[in-house]
Amino acid sequence: MSVEKCGAAILGFGNIGSGAAELLKTNKARITQSAGREVVLKYILDVKFPENSEFKHLFVSDFALIENDPAVTVVIETIGGIRFAYDFTKRALSAGKSVVTSNKELVAMYGHELLTIAKANNVNYLFEASVGGGIPILRPLSQCLAANEITEIYGILNGTTNYILTKMSEGQSYEQALKTAQELGYAEADPAADVSGKDTCRKICILADLAFGKHINPNEVSVIGIENVKNALTAEGKVKLIGRAKKLGGDRIMIRVAPEVIAADHMLSCVENANNGIVVKGDAVGEVLFYGQGAGKMPTASAIVADVIDCVKHVNARKWLYWDDGDRIELVSE
Ligand code: HSE
Repeated sequence: MSVEKCGAAILGFGNIGSGAAELLKTNKARITQSAGREVVLKYILDVKFPENSEFKHLFVSDFALIENDPAVTVVIETIGGIRFAYDFTKRALSAGKSVVTSNKELVAMYGHELLTIAKANNVNYLFEASVGGGIPILRPLSQCLAANEITEIYGILNGTTNYILTKMSEGQSYEQALKTAQELGYAEADPAADVSGKDTCRKICILADLAFGKHINPNEVSVIGIENVKNALTAEGKVKLIGRAKKLGGDRIMIRVAPEVIAADHMLSCVENANNGIVVKGDAVGEVLFYGQGAGKMPTASAIVADVIDCVKHVNARKWLYWDDGDRIELVSE
């Protein structure tokens, strides 16, 4: 039986983009069955072309080729950062293509605007991979927990820093652990975003935006990273980098990023290495823990390709719109 085809393009062929290409190829039959259409990877946009890549024939350097190809239904943005990613995402959405991304920086800063453009063009902008790597968290939060008033979200949201703190608690140096985290593909191109807490900040802002329905600017959040942590294992418990967003009275929320000592009997205490653990508190469900691989090539590709399937399945319909329009919630310190 022949199935309809849907063209896809990947922007940025680094660790995550190449993982998405591999997964689309390796699990093609399963993906086609799930999506009800065959996802055909037509283009890979990057500035450099790895000579030995099996996807070499798909490489292009001009975004207009993708933008102007009506056969491309979904664009996978794994460039990272703001500059090119923001421009290409706006152009892709405006050209009537859904966009899927793992780019937490872009989502945290401009997600609201990009969702508005997606809505105007009747396409999707999906970003499950932007928080928690391979852990399903945005859909469960928006859908499975929709009946709850979410009162607090907190957790370990950065694989690199959790890996470093875990290895430090086992006696390794900060520098050695960071080097290994980079080699394992967990860290950002510039790992300063990880260790300074900025990456965690972007992710807790996205979660808070979704949970509380307002856009929070990550630049306005108090952030302390792990650069000054000397001892990751104390008598009171393990030190973990925690992103925390809590609903206070009225329309106010508290949001911050800082290292915290986690007691041995707390459910986040056993979240080690590059794993993430995210606790969501709802008024009906109580506390729920989302746990799994929060960084790395294939776990992140898993979330990206699931979003691709959703886009392809819901061509011409917006299935997910995460943010409400409205004023920002006032930021206060605890
Ligand atoms: N650098 C990020 C981390 C990648 O370590 O969590 C996943 O967002």
